[in-house]
Amino acid sequence: MTDNPVETHYTRDDLGEAILAALRAAGKDIDHLTPDDLAPVDEFHGGRRPATVRLAELVGFVGSERVLDVGSGLGGPSRYLAWRYGCRVSGVDLTAEFVRVAEMLTRLTGFVGRVDYRQGDALDLPFESESFDVVWSQNAAMNIADRDRLYREMRRVLKPGGKLALQEVAAGPGGPPHYPVQWAREPSISFLYSQKATRSKLATAGLRVTAWQDTTEPALQSATARARNADGPPPALGTHLLLGGDWQAMFRNSGRNLEERRTELFNAVLERVD
Ligand SMILES: C[S@@+](CC[C@H](N)C(=O)[O-])C[C@H]1O[C@@H](n2cnc3c(N)ncnc32)[C@H](O)[C@@H]1O
Repeated sequence: MTDNPVETHYTRDDLGEAILAALRAAGKDIDHLTPDDLAPVDEFHGGRRPATVRLAELVGFVGSERVLDVGSGLGGPSRYLAWRYGCRVSGVDLTAEFVRVAEMLTRLTGFVGRVDYRQGDALDLPFESESFDVVWSQNAAMNIADRDRLYREMRRVLKPGGKLALQEVAAGPGGPPHYPVQWAREPSISFLYSQKATRSKLATAGLRVTAWQDTTEPALQSATARARNADGPPPALGTHLLLGGDWQAMFRNSGRNLEERRTELFNAVLERVD
């Protein structure tokens, strides 16, 4: 039980069991799972695995980095970074159920010791200052109102010269989003800022942009394909398992919001300035 409305939004009872059943139904071998097997369900952000690959390439990992994933969800991106590059990754997430499932999937894929998770708030990161080479975050900031504090916290735990990698949903010029969306059923837990306002907050926090990509177009293509599939039965394995009974409306609204430019998506890499 939680009284945090964001955690309540993301909490599904028995999510781990539902994912295991879906993996079996999809014909996966539970005893030999790979990050690729899990990608349809554990990459919980616009653009899915291809978006993670794009952001990782923008960072230019070499493998020796110590990485923190803020709002790590079920751990798809963190296990991908450990798998593809050999990075050592910690994840922190507000939702206790997601942390439990992330740990279960990490055991099942054999990543224990290379990836770990803890429950915590991005606004009060449970890590020493200057601990990480890269702080990474995909589609988590839209649940966080106090961006000044979020970006200050992210900078604090970065080593001098460390990099911040972001994929975020931004407010577009088309007006407020249609709800429900994957991150909120109503506006009280949704906090979107324009790309311009976000850049200004990042600069104030002491972070300098080294790369900034507006990824609204590729996100729109992938959201449109998903919205089309929302009319039929869901695949065995997919993020609908995380979303609850109104997943079809969420998929449709995601496409519509991008199309009407109520939302935009961007990738950015920033450097800690000292
Ligand atoms: C849409 S999911 C994205 C999960 C993951 N980053 C991914 O891309 O697969 C958003 C995540 O942000 C987490 N989150 C939201 N607010 C948070 C906060 N204040 N501190 C830590 N995590 C938070 C949620 O619990 C959820 O797991």
